[in-house]
Amino acid sequence: MATASRAGQVLRLLLQAGGERSGQEMAERLGCTRSAVAKAVSALRDQGLKIEAAPRRGYRLHGEPPLVLPAMVEARLKDGSLGLPLYYFPEIDSTNLEARRRAENGAPHGACLVAEHQSAGRGRLDRRWQSPKGSALLFSLILRPELGLGRIFALNNLVSLALCRALERHGGLAPTIKWPNDLYLEGRKLAGVLTEFTSRAESVDHAVVGVGLNVNQEPAWLAGLDQPGISLRAATGHAWHRAELLAWVLDELSGLYGQFVDGESEDLAQEYAQRSLILGMEVTVREGQNMRQGRATGFAPSGALLLEEDGVVSPVHHGDVSLLAWEEIA
Ligand code: BTN
Repeated sequence: MATASRAGQVLRLLLQAGGERSGQEMAERLGCTRSAVAKAVSALRDQGLKIEAAPRRGYRLHGEPPLVLPAMVEARLKDGSLGLPLYYFPEIDSTNLEARRRAENGAPHGACLVAEHQSAGRGRLDRRWQSPKGSALLFSLILRPELGLGRIFALNNLVSLALCRALERHGGLAPTIKWPNDLYLEGRKLAGVLTEFTSRAESVDHAVVGVGLNVNQEPAWLAGLDQPGISLRAATGHAWHRAELLAWVLDELSGLYGQFVDGESEDLAQEYAQRSLILGMEVTVREGQNMRQGRATGFAPSGALLLEEDGVVSPVHHGDVSLLAWEEIA
């Protein structure tokens, strides 16, 4: 089972204490020496965390930098959660590309790659995904599910649902999902998910699930996007702690993934439907070269959209949904 680094464990104890905690007590709790604790504290300070030491009283956390450092995420994650081990990149081409490279070299199920900035961030349908350095939450998760190819798209839905749950539970927000993978808030795009996979025979070898969540981008930057976008900061008027946010999402995803593996896909599809932006609406779906038009009636456990065309309901496994009338986009 993947566990947090020593620095993450020490930071977790300092966060839980909410005040001073002695090196001796932390060493006892972690089953290590006091010098191992002191070394972890020094590593955390080197990364920009403000930790003060008072003689005979112990250590106290005074502040964290506005980064998504692994220890800051690990400190907020349960051992065994998805997201461990966690790899951090101040700069990378794309976390999805790097995750694929690492997965091909044997990186384990649950590993997570997070970046402050991507020079070649990728969206669905070969679109680009951009954000100013240090403002968005950009991460990719490596999953090695025992899954036939027919159910791979359910992972997309699972991640969208985890994002919604995390923002509802901790942020008091109510985002909606535009199938398959876009999160919307106040009618504007808040996040996107890009799932890519490698198969062997008829099953999935590994999947890479990449998430781009607009967090602290300023309204002026959002105004320059091709399609209307929103960030959590623009919606709520305050900056968000991205490491905390990532831990919330990974925690929700771990629970949902467990349900998925336990065969509760029908329940998950229903929960997903409750957040759907398009349920019951007339939509146009671009499926490869095909354009289909009908009413969105639900979502299958496989992740497919159920589309009713001329009274007949059939699944759409992947595609791009538009709420515009057929004539306007054809
Ligand atoms: C979309 O809405 O089209 C999906 C966007 C997915 C963007 C994320 S950012 C982190 C990860 N790395 C990438 O290159 N893409 C995904």
